[in-house]
Amino acid sequence: MVEYKMLNFKVHGNHQGSLVALEKGEDFPFEIKRVYYIWNTDGDVVRGKHAHRKLEQVIVCTSGSCDFILDNGKEREVVRLDNPAQGLHIKNNIWREFTNFSKDCVVMVLASEHYSEEDYIRDYDVFLKEVGV
Ligand code: TYD
Repeated sequence: MVEYKMLNFKVHGNHQGSLVALEKGEDFPFEIKRVYYIWNTDGDVVRGKHAHRKLEQVIVCTSGSCDFILDNGKEREVVRLDNPAQGLHIKNNIWREFTNFSKDCVVMVLASEHYSEEDYIRDYDVFLKEVGV
């Protein structure tokens, strides 16, 4: 089993629509240091193709849908993201690729660290070595 968690956020909904608030504390697994978001990606593009040495992330598809392929070096799992009320929590040492973007897909990533290229493992063979496979 690839280690990840799907977080179910509390939705404040009424006749005006829906709202999710994410705050440091019980509802969120780490202190957020960085937020980035991705949109305008063609459906068949494969993004990601890396793992992180230390970084944890919660990934939310705030609009549309896409597929995350998670790989721990031994197993692969596909997780579909299509619900803004859910967040995919991934810790370090998980190789991820994401694809099958709907036209309206917006992916927001909440990250535990500032951007650091040294934290990236961009070569799959190096990843396998680092996780001991
Ligand atoms: P990259 O990590 O390759 O995107 P993805 O894994 O989603 O395909 O990042 C794309 C570009 O954006 C790359 O030039 C680095 C830059 N970038 C930042 O400057 N800060 C960030 O926080 C992130 C995630 C990327």
